[in-house]
Formats: sequence, structure tokens, C-alpha cells
Amino acid sequence: MSTQAIHKQVPIQDFASALRRFPESAFRIVDALLDFLQDTPVSPDTLAPYLTWDCQHYTRNLIDKTPLYELIAICWEIGQASSVHNHRDQNCWMAVPIGRLLVGNYHLVSQDLARGTCQLKSADTVEMNPNRPCAVDPADPVHRVYNPREFNQRAVSLHVYSRPFDTCIVYSPEHGTCGEIKLRYNTKFGEPANGP
Ligand code: SIN
Repeated sequence: MSTQAIHKQVPIQDFASALRRFPESAFRIVDALLDFLQDTPVSPDTLAPYLTWDCQHYTRNLIDKTPLYELIAICWEIGQASSVHNHRDQNCWMAVPIGRLLVGNYHLVSQDLARGTCQLKSADTVEMNPNRPCAVDPADPVHRVYNPREFNQRAVSLHVYSRPFDTCIVYSPEHGTCGEIKLRYNTKFGEPANGP
């Protein structure tokens, strides 16, 4: 018999308010925020102002931002995937209020950013869904998130990044190459984003 606790869904506004009450120290403890995400599922209908869809690329939609963290909703069409990337040494927690997603983790064997070369080893893959949030392992943070065709449904993930970052390193495991990219928002606080 499953012993999984049933948690009441909360509006995204309540989720964001609760996040703002955490002390700075909580954002350095991966399990503290992971427990919060596990215990505080977000009701999908309250996310409507932050959901935008693009058949070419997943969309990044800013919900809240402080000097300590940013809270983003990412909308994934069927088959969409992020690049393999890092998080600039920042912690990251992810919940999936709508649909299901996979996280493919990689071990970074070596990296020479000046030359644009790297070596990666594929590690485990974990599923995220409304009952199963996840945290990026600070010791082995390189990963990609994807919505496989076989899941056959759109998905929305909530990402808490602490601290906020606007560039990251993307990797091609196939070609052994890497480089820095700029990260952009499609919407900010429910409005189209103009600029970064
Ligand atoms: C992104 O933030 O653009 C990619 C999603 C992730 O954090 O894995």
C-alpha cells in the first residue's frame, strides 16, 4: 500500500508568498525547499496568467523574483527539451503541476570553456510529476529537462533558482562542445517580456 501523503493544492500566489517567508539559509539547504515543494502542490488553474506556448521552444515565464531567488513557470509542448546545461552553481528546485517531465542527469568529467570543449557521462534519469518534485544535485548539476513524445501531453514546471542567474553553460554531449548562453524570459509577471 502506498504511504504517500495527500497535500492540498494551493494557489500560486500562496506558494509565492510562502516562498518569500523562507530565510536566506533555507535556500542553501536542498532538502528544506524540496520538502516545501513536496508539501505544497500548486493548483494548475491559478497558473493561467503565466502560461504561454511556443511550438518552436519551451517558454520561460517569470512569476516572482527577489535578490535571493526567482520563480519561473516553464511551458513544454510535447517533444520539447532544454539543452544539457548547468545552473551557474545556483541551487534549483523543480515541481511539475501539469503533466510529466523527465530530467536526464550528466556527470561533467571535464570542461574547458575557453576552448569550448567538454566531456560528459550520462547518469540517471528521473521523472517529475505532480506528486514528485525534484532538486538539482549541487555536486553534479548538469542536466536537461524534456517532455518525451510518448508522454503525449503538455507539461508545466515551476523552477526556483537561488540565486537568480541569467546566463548558463550549455553542453553537447554528442560533440563534446560547450558554451555560454543568455537566458531570457518570454513573460514577466504575466506580461510579455521586452528585453532580458
Ligand atoms: C531553463 O531554465 O531554461 C531550463 C530548465 C531547467 O532549469 O532545467
